Amino acid sequence: MNDIASAVREQAPPAGHAGRIGGVVLDLQGISLSFGGVKALTDISFDVREHEIRSIIGPNGAGKSSMLNVINGVYHPQQGRILFRGEERRRMEPHRAAAQGIARTFQNIALFKGMSVLDNIMTGRNLKMRCGLLRHALYWGPAQREEIAHRLKVEEIIDFLEIQGIRKTPVGRLPYGLQKRVELGRALAAEPSLLLLDEPMAGMNVEEKQDMCRFILDVNDQFGTTIVLIEHDMGVVMDISDRVVVLDYGRKIGDGPPDEVKRNPEVIAAYLGAAH
Ligand SMILES: Nc1ncnc2c1ncn2[C@@H]1O[C@H](COP(=O)(O)OP(=O)(O)OP(=O)(O)O)[C@@H](O)[C@H]1O
Ligand SMILES: [Mg+2]
Repeated sequence: MNDIASAVREQAPPAGHAGRIGGVVLDLQGISLSFGGVKALTDISFDVREHEIRSIIGPNGAGKSSMLNVINGVYHPQQGRILFRGEERRRMEPHRAAAQGIARTFQNIALFKGMSVLDNIMTGRNLKMRCGLLRHALYWGPAQREEIAHRLKVEEIIDFLEIQGIRKTPVGRLPYGLQKRVELGRALAAEPSLLLLDEPMAGMNVEEKQDMCRFILDVNDQFGTTIVLIEHDMGVVMDISDRVVVLDYGRKIGDGPPDEVKRNPEVIAAYLGAAH
């Protein structure tokens, strides 16, 4: 077992997680996406079940980030069907996906570097804010009450992620690993039911990875959040995922529980066997 993941498991033993996995939340059927002549995804089908940690792996350029962009409405596939909670989704924009409870973090950190940790996490609550600027001006009382409630939620997230000490620090001054953690906080502020994480541990040292791994497991366990995870660290992926889908050149070459995927010869040839 991988060092990072096993250390995390020792801190927080799994609480019968597998037994809590429910029905299909997201069903992707025959998704194809191309950019001009580049086929990013070809006829990809897989599903995501309630409360599971579902990982997407594959070599660079395999189509992993494109897949997340399809799920949260940034890219619109030319072919295929997407069912979210049993309903077929028509062409959908990112803000609608967010309103339906889908939040994400990005491969390249997307935060306001000059703003504090607290204010960055607060931006994750935008969708939940009912009081716009005008209401703020006209009805000071309700707007202020709402602001206080949002701040409390943000403070809860800050406590959960153990970043109280840096809550007023501008994000740009933080080391990379902490910025990634703040980005997770921004996504959590939307209280998502489906959380998409694009390489949340990339570029981190062992200790930072260990922390991030623990937070992902805790979010999944304590909030019941369903997670789709893209990650290159195979030890971590194989240890914390319930099921893994493997992409290679935009095609699906493997899908199943970690043990099964690990033994799939096509996967070994395309990815696991190759130096990365
Ligand atoms: N907006 C875009 N315009 C043109 N081509 C794109 C676009 N987004 C992705 N692609 C192409 O689609 C393919 C898949 O890219 P994608 O970023 O999804 O891969 P990935 O698996 O996330 O790779 P990595 O591990 O490097 O992050 C690549 O060939 C990429 O160049
Ligand atoms: Mg990517």
